[in-house]
Amino acid sequence: MGVSSEGLSAEGDVEAMLGHEALRRLDLPLAEASGLPNVAYTSEAWQRLENERLFARTWCFAGYAHDLPNPGDAVPIDIGGMPVLLVRDKDGVVRGFHNVCRHRGATLLEEKACGLTVLTCPYHAWAYDLTGTLRTRPHFHGGDKHDVGDDGNGPGLKPVATAVWHHWIFVNIDGQAGSFDDFIAPIARRCDGYDIGAARYAGSLDFDVACNWKFALENYIEPYHVFAAHPRLHSFVPMAEREPSKCDGHVLWNFYQFREPEEGRGVGLPYFPNLTEELASRGLWFVAVPNFAFEVYPDHIATFIVTPLTPATSRERIDIYLIGDAAKGEQFATQRQAVFDTWHDLNKEDLGLIARLQRGRLSPGYDGGRFSPYWDEAPLELSRQIVKAML
Ligand code: FES
Ligand SMILES: [Fe+2]
Repeated sequence: MGVSSEGLSAEGDVEAMLGHEALRRLDLPLAEASGLPNVAYTSEAWQRLENERLFARTWCFAGYAHDLPNPGDAVPIDIGGMPVLLVRDKDGVVRGFHNVCRHRGATLLEEKACGLTVLTCPYHAWAYDLTGTLRTRPHFHGGDKHDVGDDGNGPGLKPVATAVWHHWIFVNIDGQAGSFDDFIAPIARRCDGYDIGAARYAGSLDFDVACNWKFALENYIEPYHVFAAHPRLHSFVPMAEREPSKCDGHVLWNFYQFREPEEGRGVGLPYFPNLTEELASRGLWFVAVPNFAFEVYPDHIATFIVTPLTPATSRERIDIYLIGDAAKGEQFATQRQAVFDTWHDLNKEDLGLIARLQRGRLSPGYDGGRFSPYWDEAPLELSRQIVKAML
């Protein structure tokens, strides 16, 4: 249990906002439990608490190695409302820093930049090298009296714990989240049979979403809505051949075996090398609390990242990775487009529904709901894991 900046205990904050009864019901066995109350999806105060207690404390998905491919590339990002900077240093190492100058606190970078050798604050031109060390402070001791060639002991940029798993960059703002290897292990070990290194970035899809970020992830991990919302996906793998998602600590996951590949899912594109027969007909997907969602097919990977904006609005970005030349080669253009179209259409089928979840949370007639005892452990567990991380 921690102490918040206002001096309240985190448990006190969480319980004060959600209510004791809601917390109790969240932990009941599935058939008797209820989910998070409306306030967790509608309140700015709750969103601030999530920023402080969830996004600052966990390993969060933060960016894409392919967005900063070369030394000197830098990307400003936002983690739980906090400005962070990802930089590839001259040795090719991806580093994370708080995106704030040590002088008067201007953000250093507001847009992606390339070819940098130093990070220069635009306000008074303090300059830091790509490892964050302060190097120059122009006119620091008076006109033309520069503080140049700092000995490295000046106030450098504050680092943020950063880890890279294949194409994906994660940060932990408070540095207390524990080992990144432990964080990613429940996904990594279930992806053992895929040569993820063979997957190349092929492109992205962006969506504006009229709902709280949590609804996008709850929806992503529960297959119960497939028959009603996704006719094509349902004919690909019907309900009778699906299983509920499973929980492995902070990671929720699911898979199915499909009988025949179809356009956009396994037709006309190279597969991961040396796949077993089983993996060659499998879809496998994960959510790692708080914000990394990841799906693997025999011929592609799709990451699904949802960024909170307001309590009731979010941004989604889907990135597609294909095997070897399939990512960019002209000869694969048609089948590659089919993968993008499949993801685009599938996601569009969800957007109106998750916006209804948001609208529904304005109703005092909703009390956290009742769950299917067969299908709904995962969306409930997602809420439990979020709350647990905040206590
Ligand atoms: S605020 Fe950055 S140099 Fe002054
Ligand atoms: Fe869906």
